Amino acid sequence: MILSIESSCDDSSIAITQINSLKVLFHKKISQELDHSIYGGVVPELAARLHAKALPEILANASEYFSSLKAVAITTEPGLSVSLVEGVAMAKALSISLNIPLISVNHLKGHIYSLFIEKEAIFPLGVLLVSGGHTQVLSVESHDDIKILASTLDDSFGESFDKVSKMLNLGYPGGPVIEKYAKNGDENRFNFTIPLQNSAQIAFSYSGLKNQVRLCIQEHKNDLNEQTKSDICASFQKTATAHLIQKLKKLFKKNSFKNFAVVGGASANLHLRNELKKLHPNILTAPLEFCSDNAVMIGRASIDDFKNQKFCAIEKLDINPKISTFT
Ligand code: KG4
Ligand code: ZN
Repeated sequence: MILSIESSCDDSSIAITQINSLKVLFHKKISQELDHSIYGGVVPELAARLHAKALPEILANASEYFSSLKAVAITTEPGLSVSLVEGVAMAKALSISLNIPLISVNHLKGHIYSLFIEKEAIFPLGVLLVSGGHTQVLSVESHDDIKILASTLDDSFGESFDKVSKMLNLGYPGGPVIEKYAKNGDENRFNFTIPLQNSAQIAFSYSGLKNQVRLCIQEHKNDLNEQTKSDICASFQKTATAHLIQKLKKLFKKNSFKNFAVVGGASANLHLRNELKKLHPNILTAPLEFCSDNAVMIGRASIDDFKNQKFCAIEKLDINPKISTFT
C-alpha cells in the first residue's frame, strides 16, 4: 500500500491506495474553505496552521495500515510554500519512522490521475486542467510525457470565479456559489466580451473579463438584488466558458484527440461539462468528489513511479511552489 498526502493549498488530505489492485482503502480530507471564506481567498499562514492541526488528526485514523505501507507519496509542487512544507514534513517523518521510500508527486499530474481512481489509465489523452491555480491544455502521451499546449496569460478559470464571487460578497470558493446563482440567472442580460476572441493566439486570459464584471457591479450598485447578482453570475459563467470553448475549437483544428478530459476543481462546473460535450464526443471527467484537491489522486499518480522504483532521497525531497510544468 501507498500512503499519500496532499496539502498544497487549503485541503488537508491523506489516502491509502493498494498498489496492485489500485483500490482506495482509506481517504479523509479536511477542507479549510469555511476558515478562509471571510477573507474571500486563501490566507497562506492560516492554511499552514490548519494543515499542522488537521494532518496529524487524519493520520491517526490511518495507523492500522502503517505496517503494510511500501512508500509515502507527497505533493511537492506547485502550491503555496507554507502549505506544501506541512505535508512534506509529515512525509519525511513517516519515511524515517517506517523505513519506507518517498515519492514526490506533481499536483497537476495528480489532477490528471483523478480520472483514473481505481482504474487503469488511458493514454494518449488531451486534458483541459481548470483549477484555482492553473488553466492549461495538455497533451498527455504517457505518465512521463506531458506537454503544455496552451495556458493562461494571467488569472486562471477557477480564480476568476473566486474573484467575481468576492466582488459580489458571495464568499470563497467562488466556483460552486457562482454556478448556483447562475442557475437562477439570465445569461443573456449582460453582454460581456469573450476574451482574446479576435486573437489567433491559443491562450487564455481572465483578468479583462474580471474587470468587465467589476464595472458592471459598480454600475448596478444601487440595484444589486438577488436577481441582478444571478444575472451577473450567469452572464459571467457563460462568457468564461465560451472563452475556453472558442480556444479549444481552434486547438482541435491543429491537434486531434481521440479522448479529451477535463480535470481540476473547476471541472465540477456542469455548464462547462455540457459545453465540452458539444465540442468533443469523448469527454472524460473525474467523479465529482475527486475534482477538487485530494490525496487519492496523488496516491494514484504515484503508482507508476512506485512500480518503476522512482523514489526521492529524503535529503533531496524539497518543495517547488511556483513550477507549472510537469516533472
Ligand atoms: O483543483 P482545486 O481544488 O485547487 C487548485 O488546485 O487550485 O480548484 C479549486 C478551484 C477554485 O478556484 C474554485 O472556485 C474552483 O476550483 N471551482 C469551481 C467550481 N468548483 C470549484 N469553479 C467553477 N465552477 C465550479 N462548480
Ligand atoms: Zn488542485
